[in-house]
Amino acid sequence: MASLTIRKLDEGIKTYLRLRSAKNRRSVEEEVRVILGELIEGREEPLTPFTAPPAAFTTPIPQRTGAVPEASVTLIIGGGIAAYKSLDLIRRLKERRIEVRCVLTKAAQQFVTALAVSALSHERVYTDLFDPQSEFDAGHIRLARECDLIVVAPATADLMAKMANGHADDLASAILLATNRKVLLAPAMNPLMWNNAATRRNVAQLQRDGVMLIGPNSGEMAEAGEAGIGRMSEAIEIATAAERLLRPPVPRPLAGKRVLITAGPTHEPIDPVRYIANRSSGKQGFAIAAAAQAAGAEVILVSGPVDLSDPQGVTVKYVESARQMLEQVQAALPADIAIFAAAVADWRVVNEGEQKLKKTSAGMPPLQLVENPDILATISKLTDKRPPLVIGFAAETEHLIDNAKSKLARKGCDWIVANDVSPATGVMGGDRNTVHLISRNNGADNGEIAVDSWPAMTKEQVAIELVAHIAKSVTGKSREPAS
Ligand SMILES: Cc1cc2nc3c(=O)[nH]c(=O)nc-3n(C[C@H](O)[C@H](O)[C@H](O)COP(=O)(O)O)c2cc1C
Repeated sequence: MASLTIRKLDEGIKTYLRLRSAKNRRSVEEEVRVILGELIEGREEPLTPFTAPPAAFTTPIPQRTGAVPEASVTLIIGGGIAAYKSLDLIRRLKERRIEVRCVLTKAAQQFVTALAVSALSHERVYTDLFDPQSEFDAGHIRLARECDLIVVAPATADLMAKMANGHADDLASAILLATNRKVLLAPAMNPLMWNNAATRRNVAQLQRDGVMLIGPNSGEMAEAGEAGIGRMSEAIEIATAAERLLRPPVPRPLAGKRVLITAGPTHEPIDPVRYIANRSSGKQGFAIAAAAQAAGAEVILVSGPVDLSDPQGVTVKYVESARQMLEQVQAALPADIAIFAAAVADWRVVNEGEQKLKKTSAGMPPLQLVENPDILATISKLTDKRPPLVIGFAAETEHLIDNAKSKLARKGCDWIVANDVSPATGVMGGDRNTVHLISRNNGADNGEIAVDSWPAMTKEQVAIELVAHIAKSVTGKSREPAS
């Protein structure tokens, strides 16, 4: 706020102020305040504080907004002949949904124009540290931090020397000194510059400082007849390296494994319109399929009739009856892991009506039941195509652990996931499950059975936990190749 020195006012105004203040019994200073107050109250335009920056300062670095790009890079282009490759790099980054904001060094502008860089990045290009249009809100700091990664390509010998020594006398070096983001350098220079003791020292220092490098590659130089190490990595190599830093690969412990899963109920026909079913929703089996797929497995899901959407990236085969389910399971072999989570009907109607059964005076038609094939036991007892790990589910309403243990022995599978499906638990059709993993202790074949009881979880959490146990168990074990 400006201050006013009354002494410096002209004589006529001073005399007026003295007389007026004396008349009003105020000090001259107070009188000036009153006059200013009256002036402001009486003015025509509304009283709004002036907060907007002056016109010359009204093109700030825009905030990064919008959900479309998933990552952002500040790309610093140094003054080397390879700067032309950075134009392609901008495109390669953008096609990977990476937003790119570019900074050109003074030397870089001798090799590529800000216009070309701006047209390709669809963003304003930054060249000057002392740029009032972006520095009124510390633009260089924002360029250094409002990004997920800084890429320098080409990283010249000069720029690396400045970085190694903490210089900040231009926009590029100031950003590099002010950043708290990862920095990836793509050096490019003549082989003699690259091998020079000073560059060697600077590179070693930068690596100690945690800066990452890609390249340089060896090959022909721009200088006629020269070859050696110093060519900048190709744009696609730099973009891939940047993407790996921005989106590190998720662990995929089941990559290369084929997992067969069954889910849902089966429908056993009584006649063309009626069937015997159960309350299974398929949610647990579908969640396991999704978790196995996320862990990198190739997943085949054989499902009875359910009201769920197909998990992404999973091959789903829909069936109705237990016999159809067995057929599809056998067709899907070989597999490394088989998980039988379906609630397969134990019985089917042997005298299935060809036409809709009618009410008759003779009373209810007798339904003769016959046992369905036991999918878990059939696959567990295979000799040739038995998956190395066979897991069954035991849905029990009483004596859960005891029944599950005897099921493990009876069926010949490796693990049983036991869950209590009594109506009070809400497991059938619900979103949560409490399971016990019953297995032969540590895989040892001494008949000892281990029970691992997990706390109540969502079916998705149970699936993730089960897949983690599977991944730990099968690492290194693979099925026999398909004959
Ligand atoms: C035609 C020409 C090509 C150049 N190519 C390179 C190069 O590939 N790598 C390098 O480190 N310097 C190269 N230089 C030198 C740099 O432009 C110079 O060191 C400049 O100061 C780098 O500035 P910057 O690091 O701020 O971009 C070249 C110079 C000229 C005139």
